[in-house]
Amino acid sequence: MNPLRPVILAAADSPRMKRVLTGNPVTAEIVRRFVAGEGRDELLPVVADLLASRRLISVDFLGENTTDRASAEATVAEYLSLINALAAIERPVLPGIGAAPVEVSVKLSALGQSLPADGLAISLDNLRTLCVGAAAAGVWVTVDAEDHTTTDATLATVRALRTEFPWLGAVLQAYLHRTESDCVEFAGPGSRIRLCKGAYREPHRVAFQRATEVTDAYLRCLQVLMHGRGYPMVATHDPVLILAAEAMAAETGRPAHRFEHQMLYGIRDAEQLRLTGAGYAMRVYIPYGSQWYGYLTRRLAERPANLTFFLRALVGKS
Ligand code: FDA
Repeated sequence: MNPLRPVILAAADSPRMKRVLTGNPVTAEIVRRFVAGEGRDELLPVVADLLASRRLISVDFLGENTTDRASAEATVAEYLSLINALAAIERPVLPGIGAAPVEVSVKLSALGQSLPADGLAISLDNLRTLCVGAAAAGVWVTVDAEDHTTTDATLATVRALRTEFPWLGAVLQAYLHRTESDCVEFAGPGSRIRLCKGAYREPHRVAFQRATEVTDAYLRCLQVLMHGRGYPMVATHDPVLILAAEAMAAETGRPAHRFEHQMLYGIRDAEQLRLTGAGYAMRVYIPYGSQWYGYLTRRLAERPANLTFFLRALVGKS
């Protein structure tokens, strides 16, 4: 794992760093690489272009750790408008691929999960409202994974709503020690699981820290999902894991339309197009919105080169 990662993720929690980054015009250039825009007007042309290139999409309205109920409700309202706007965009016809081309991704902390007292019930109700709107529009929903203190609550919410909305997806993070057994639970028929490495700063007692350990854990989790009866979503840019997914699919007799590759907007675009051209379902996760700070710092922490680029730009413009 990148040795600077814990340092950057720790610094990212500092309100001072947040003020410096969000108040600096140079940041906007970096943000643009990873975030489609602040509003739907900037997002929708990006979505249309990606769909026209035969890639599938998942849109995330940026926001996390909502501290009041009104903000959680405003997030739901934005998602419902987003879903309607997405439903109006022309979708590609992809022979042999049964996945919904359009999906939204959502963080339960943005829907009120951490509100005192009844946060869990509020976020569950809000997610249900969102799923009702999505079902009517033929759009899928997947629930993002946040830090490990939320995993039990998030998976309980997904479990509860999957009885009404069996297509509701969840994210599992391979770096958590618990995830291999979560994969066993969520590998049943119809279960959509997005497997990623994990992007938060987590303690040793709950998460693997070394890059090789995380890669090995990812491979073990992917084996479980690929051997299961659900729909694995292989969310990684790592060439080793992408090849492993293809090999496991061949070994388990899983055709290309029974799983999908997923990557983040702005990362490994040529590889996204290669996978699409090779007949795989390739979904791009596209964030938009003004609350991009947490998302950006996680992307900077993943790759020292991003941080170097960013610091050079800062120094160059100061
Ligand atoms: P790794 O970090 O080893 O990267 C492999 C290669 O990919 C790098 O060598 C580089 O070429 C490229 N790359 C990766 N990150 C890059 C970056 N930031 N900038 C430029 N190049 C980069 N996490 C989480 O905790 N909860 C969640 O809900 C999600 N959701 C999610 C959805 C989707 C669709 C994806 C693809 C990822 C997530 N993640 C996430 C993030 C995930 O946990 C992880 O932090 C990143 O995907 C980076 O890990 P990789 O598997 O790509 O490997």
